[in-house]
Amino acid sequence: MTSLALGLRGLAHGGDYNPEQWPRETWRDDIELMRQAGVNLVTLGVFSWAWLEPEPGRYEFDWLDEVMDLLAGGGIRVDLATATASPPAWLGQRFPETLPVTAEGTVLGHGSRQAYCPSSPVFRAHAGALAEQLASRYRGHEALAMWHVGNEYGCHVTCCWCDVSAAAFRSWLADRYGSAEALNEAWGTAFWSQRYGDLDQVLPPRATPTFPNPTHQLDFRRFSSDELLACFTNERDVLRRHTPDVPITTNFMAHSASIDCWRWAPELDVVSNDHYLLAHLPDNHIDLAFDADTSRGLARGGPWLLMEHSTSAVNWQPRNVPKLPGETLRTSLQHVARGSDGAMFFQWRQSRAGAEKYHSAMVPHAGPGSRLWREVVQLGETLRRLAPVAGATVDAQVALVLSWQAGWACEGPTQPSDDVTYRDRAHALHAALFRQGITVDVVPPDADLSGYRLVLVPTLYLLTDAEAASMAAYVDAGGHLLVTYFSGIVDEHDHVRLGGYPGAFRDLLGVRVEEFHPLLAGQSVRLRGDDGRTGEADVWTEDLHLAGADAVLSYADGPRAGTPAVTRHAAGDGVAWYVATRTDRETTDHLLRQVCDDAGVSAAAAAPPGVEVVRRRTADDTYLFVLNHTHEAASVPADGIDLVTGREVTGSVDLVPGGVAVVQGG
Ligand code: GAL
Ligand code: ZN
Repeated sequence: MTSLALGLRGLAHGGDYNPEQWPRETWRDDIELMRQAGVNLVTLGVFSWAWLEPEPGRYEFDWLDEVMDLLAGGGIRVDLATATASPPAWLGQRFPETLPVTAEGTVLGHGSRQAYCPSSPVFRAHAGALAEQLASRYRGHEALAMWHVGNEYGCHVTCCWCDVSAAAFRSWLADRYGSAEALNEAWGTAFWSQRYGDLDQVLPPRATPTFPNPTHQLDFRRFSSDELLACFTNERDVLRRHTPDVPITTNFMAHSASIDCWRWAPELDVVSNDHYLLAHLPDNHIDLAFDADTSRGLARGGPWLLMEHSTSAVNWQPRNVPKLPGETLRTSLQHVARGSDGAMFFQWRQSRAGAEKYHSAMVPHAGPGSRLWREVVQLGETLRRLAPVAGATVDAQVALVLSWQAGWACEGPTQPSDDVTYRDRAHALHAALFRQGITVDVVPPDADLSGYRLVLVPTLYLLTDAEAASMAAYVDAGGHLLVTYFSGIVDEHDHVRLGGYPGAFRDLLGVRVEEFHPLLAGQSVRLRGDDGRTGEADVWTEDLHLAGADAVLSYADGPRAGTPAVTRHAAGDGVAWYVATRTDRETTDHLLRQVCDDAGVSAAAAAPPGVEVVRRRTADDTYLFVLNHTHEAASVPADGIDLVTGREVTGSVDLVPGGVAVVQGG
């Protein structure tokens, strides 16, 4: 595996640079400070469209020329944005049909950002023209390292319900189904007189008197993701024509349901991701790990780039809490541990005006005389010392199957329980393994699973027959698979698989479920194992019957008392586990320990609770990342050189509270 081909020596360090928010005098200071902080890459011009094209077809590049040259002079490379994330005021004014419309018919106007309809040919033409200008002007510029198309596609306008989008939706449906009959069949329109006589009658799922058709909604999500992708490829293809050797990215939000990242990722040269800690989550560093593992999955196990995170507080949470001393370094290294070849930020200099003026940056309002700035400089030094890590792969014996499409269907209207949310169990299982020091690869439902000792299948509500068959074959060949409730229920059209739940996995799991039995809000049930172990569960139970599997845990009370809640089935040469209820944290941790022992899965290193351990590997070296998320000192067995301090490690690496180490050879 090679590193990202960005012409950097080692890992990337820098952030979004928005010089148009500052007077020219500041630019030189910026370069000087960037050099002090060891910044080697900036993302330039993400929101510069109104500056680059103040009137339709009149371009102003002088200022950007100057900034590009200043950066080149400072030895700083540029991830140059196509600037199309936010159109200028004139676009919506001259071409009102480019403005996005909500399901209720409200037109979203200029004055915020991303106010464009993804299906608009007018938007795409103007965006493509700007990309063309930029590509022909900056091709061959010594600072140009990568192209950054758009920004966080789908972040604000995930879908558009306007007439332009309606026509595009119909043509997408015509490609997918070919005829009204096929669409009627796929959408199950025999129900409630929803039948279409002609594809021309189909609209986006706009506001309706009551529950909309779930497959209609699901296809609209698929369509909307594809339309945004077409916006991306529209610009990408222009750039490729001019600069075939310059890699192209767009920054994902891997945690978000907005687009189907599995469909997008192969279209990018470099997978990049944005991640922000959610202050209200007690274990938000574990959520960070999930996101980073997802990003690596999107990069098919290769290196990726953390494009944005924050040096401290953000501006969009109800309470925007700053990072504590050491947290920027530790969270940056979490991403690097999990395959990011760098740690970039939003943004370089904290804005003094606008909606993000209280969002932290690398240069804070307080200026360089601040703890935050000193930590940015320290991070730069650390990343420089970690240069040998660039390009290394991440060791993982466990895969977790994630599917944006299953998520859309799972969280559709009129499901058995509002409390079943798609990613809940994915995070719970991942967290249980995180606490055991076990690294997880996030993979798509059609992944080749053969290299893994254990595969986790949380709430995979929707999957295809082929995907189900590949999971069964994996178990048959000796793999261990764990499935949680509300998986394997429907096919790709959101039609229930009949004959008892979970239709796609019934035989594999050796169980048959006759009815779901969701619990009421606040209700919980006791669990008991053969070994006398007890636990608790909530949200979900099922009327489950064994059909070859053994009960591992059963309900000790509640509506299903005495019936199985967790089962294990020896199937073929492998094992298939089923978790039919929402087990509490302790029960999940214990169960996953049992499952990992059974599958022969081991931790990257023996670490105390709260200490993260992940190993990256090149052809001839290993790098053990040890990150102490606790307020206690900790030590972990390791031998080698700690690249963070340069010190030799013999026997164990000792960390201060919150401390970090990267042991080469460990
Ligand atoms: C991201 C976005 C950035 C900035 C940041 C603030 O969603 O890409 O432009 O708005 O959030 O956290
Ligand atoms: Zn539209």
